[in-house]
Formats: sequence, structure tokens, C-alpha cells
Amino acid sequence: MSLANTNAMFRRANEQKYAIGAFNVCNMELIQGISKACFETKSPVIFQISAGAKRYAGRKFLSEIVKIAVEETGIEAALHLDHGNSLELCKECIDNGFTSVMIDASHLPISENIQITQQVVEYAQEKNVSVEAELGQLVSYENHKNDSNYTDPEQACEFILKTKINSLAVAVGTSHGAYKFKNKVQPFLRFDIIEKIRNMIPDFPLVLHGASSVDQNIISQLLDYGTDLRNAKGVPEGMLKKAAKTAICKMNIDTDLRLSAFLALKKFLSSNPNGTDPRSYFETIRDSVKNTVIRKIKGILGSENKAVV
Ligand code: G3H
Ligand code: 13P
Ligand code: ZN
Repeated sequence: MSLANTNAMFRRANEQKYAIGAFNVCNMELIQGISKACFETKSPVIFQISAGAKRYAGRKFLSEIVKIAVEETGIEAALHLDHGNSLELCKECIDNGFTSVMIDASHLPISENIQITQQVVEYAQEKNVSVEAELGQLVSYENHKNDSNYTDPEQACEFILKTKINSLAVAVGTSHGAYKFKNKVQPFLRFDIIEKIRNMIPDFPLVLHGASSVDQNIISQLLDYGTDLRNAKGVPEGMLKKAAKTAICKMNIDTDLRLSAFLALKKFLSSNPNGTDPRSYFETIRDSVKNTVIRKIKGILGSENKAVV
């Protein structure tokens, strides 16, 4: 199986009401853990590489490992640039085998966001590469009260029509990292905003960034190991499940993989003080990532048995 763009994946996800997991990768073990999980569950998947991951491992290293993993397992997969911050970076990825790119100009005034997104779409379309863009700000929890940070439904429609993007990342209450909601503040997702966009442009693929649930069981184990994650809080699984079943086609998950990998490493090191062979501790990371992805696919995304290969 070779890599494909996200268009057909999203069409099916919309029709059959599930979401595709988009997992951030930065090394071979993560890629293998995710591929194995998707192979075993027959789930489609998006591997995504951020600018930071590219700096760490190199674009070519990561994209080639993804290609090998997809060839070996035969899974249905896309290779996506996460939070591309310039036309040049998007072009570089489009020219080098990525099947999907995100241009994130959400911090710019809307007219500039539209302009740069149009340029990326124009370049990507010729090569059959999908484009995701973002509207609104994924702000930290202190700024949730400011409504202007959320995606404005009317603006979203104008943006989609003008740019001809393939999917839109919406700001509806989530943020990146392990601290999504202030302590004692009830977690929420602005389903009303999602609903409004859906009513205006039915079935347009919407993307949820910051879709980690920050499993409290993992947090309490990490706290016991001395990791300072007090008050870490993610999006409750029930809300994510509802989002996947209703309108969200793609869920971006990075933090939950980091947390599970880190806990696996902590556990390994505490019970194997002499375990110097990197294969032994990287293997435990690979297994924990695989299990986390399987839990996401079965418990939240609903993408099990949805791969078309
Ligand atoms: O959206 C951001 C992702 O979590 C990637 O994080 O830039 O540290 O690789 P990173
Ligand atoms: P999390 O930090 O919730 O995993 O979100 C990751 C993300 O949105 C990557 O683009
Ligand atoms: Zn993101």
C-alpha cells in the first residue's frame, strides 16, 4: 500500500461518522507502534510531522520510515505536515512525498491567512496533495473567556470557499499540551460552533487539534514517579467520542503518545536499573505507543475496520 492524500479518508469518515487519528511522529519506534496498531485494528491513519520533529530527525529520515512502515504493513495512511508555518516549508514537503500539508497562518490577519493558504492550495492541488488550514486560536486555558479566539462560523465559510482547502482546523476550546483546562474549570468543547459550520457547509471535513485526553490514570502514575504534572487536564473521552461521531474527521494526538511513552520508560528504568540495551527500553516505548493508539481507535475515533486497502 502506498501513501494517499486525505480526501477519500475524510469522505468516508464523514459518511460513516468516525474520525481518523493523526499522530505526531519523531522517530522509528513511534512510527512502528502506530503502524502496528493500525494494522491490527484495520484502521486508516495519518502520520504527521511537525517542524520540530523535522528539526530533530530530519524530513527525509522520518518520511522514509513512514513509507517503509506503510509498505510493510499495508495500512491505509497519509503523510502530513503538521503546523506548516510557511509556503516554502509546505512546498518542500509537497515536493518530497507528503500527501497532505497544513498551512497554519491562523495567527495572521484573515486576509493574509487567506492569501498564503490560497498559494499553498494552488501548489498542492497540482500534485494531488490535500491542504488543511486553521482559523481561530488554540489558546491556553487562561484565554478561554475571550470569544474572539474561537473559530467564527461565518468567517470559516468564507475562508473555505475562498481558499478551496480540503479541511479546516477549528478552535473550539482545545489547546496543545497537557494543560487544556484550568483546575476546577469544567472541560468543554464548543459543539455549537462546530454545528453552525456544519449547517452552513455540510460535510466539510473539520479537524480537532489538541485532541489528547490526558489520561488521569497515567498522570497519577507519573506524579508518583515525581514528574510535575499537577493539574494536567485534557479533553474528556466522552466529548472526543461525540466529536468523532458527529463532525470531526481528523483528531490530532501528540501529548497522549508522549505521556504513555514517558510512563513506559519510567517504569522500565525503575524496574531495570541495569537495562542498558537501548532496544529494551525503546521496545517498551513502542509497545506502549501501540497500545495507546489501539485504545484511541477503539474507544474514541471509531476507525477500527475502516481501512480500505
Ligand atoms: O501541535 C504541535 C504538536 O504537538 C507538535 O509539537 O512542535 O513539539 O513537535 P512539536
Ligand atoms: P495534543 O497536544 O492534544 O496531543 O495535540 C496535538 C496537536 O494538535 C498536534 O497538531
Ligand atoms: Zn496542532
